Amino acid sequence: MSEQDNNSKGFIGRFLSLPTDSVPKTIFVAVAVCLVASMVVSAAAVALRPIQAVNALKDKQINILQVAGIYDPNVDVLEAFAAFEPRVLELETGTFTDQFDAASFDDRAAADDPATSIALDNDPAGIVRQAKYVTVYLLRDEAGDLDKVIMPLHGYGLWSTLYGFIALEENGNDIFGLQFYEHAETPGLGAEVDNPRWKALWNGKKLVDENGTLQISVAKTAPAAGADYHVDALAGATLTSVGVHNLVTFWMGESGYEPFLQQLKAGTL
Ligand SMILES: Cc1cc2nc3c(=O)[nH]c(=O)nc-3n(C[C@H](O)[C@H](O)[C@H](O)COP(=O)(O)O)c2cc1C
Repeated sequence: MSEQDNNSKGFIGRFLSLPTDSVPKTIFVAVAVCLVASMVVSAAAVALRPIQAVNALKDKQINILQVAGIYDPNVDVLEAFAAFEPRVLELETGTFTDQFDAASFDDRAAADDPATSIALDNDPAGIVRQAKYVTVYLLRDEAGDLDKVIMPLHGYGLWSTLYGFIALEENGNDIFGLQFYEHAETPGLGAEVDNPRWKALWNGKKLVDENGTLQISVAKTAPAAGADYHVDALAGATLTSVGVHNLVTFWMGESGYEPFLQQLKAGTL
């Protein structure tokens, strides 16, 4: 092909007339494939976001049902979840507030917002900021009396923040269950917090002793207070276990739910 022919073809013509395995064509195809693939992935991520949000909410609701012991896979989650009365709790006073809509209150957003949270100086749970308000879920019996209360808690393990719920009996002291719905601890080690056998250890444990002193502990050996206040640490995952101990004692203590637990004990709800 003469130089005159090449010039008359223009850039695109010259590119198309190159051999298929030439370097410019190979680079072009590679870049084009990357661009198309990234557009498909981005579009899928954006399109699936609402579905992911719905599924995350459903997963959280299933966890609340499970920790309260009323999850039935054959019953519609929304229908079963209607058994709960969600209330926004002001942690400092331990009383409910109607300042927010409990059905839509976003606990995690509240913990990030300086207007609705505080920075922690004493931070054993490793959460940096603590929301002043949290959503708790009341479960009543057929007579309308309080049966259980389900409260969110979270804190740092070894690799990640563990988010979960604790279910207490109406006396505000006996634990019905504890489980996490989100964490990134190692499968087979820290992730054994999800093992049903370990979760079952929480049932029947107590938070405080007769003197009102917080005694619950996750440890390799039972505390002096006795087995009623002891959950065995996970074998081979002491660091996650310490994290769970720290987050449970933080949330059940004076910086967490203690004022609310006093109200529960007084039977004023
Ligand atoms: C790859 C890897 C992942 C680990 N993941 C965890 C974990 O998720 N939680 C944990 O407590 N320990 C984890 N460990 C183990 C800790 O480093 C530490 O050895 C353990 O917590 C000590 O527990 P033990 O006293 O019961 O043996 C991991 C170790 C390795 C090498």
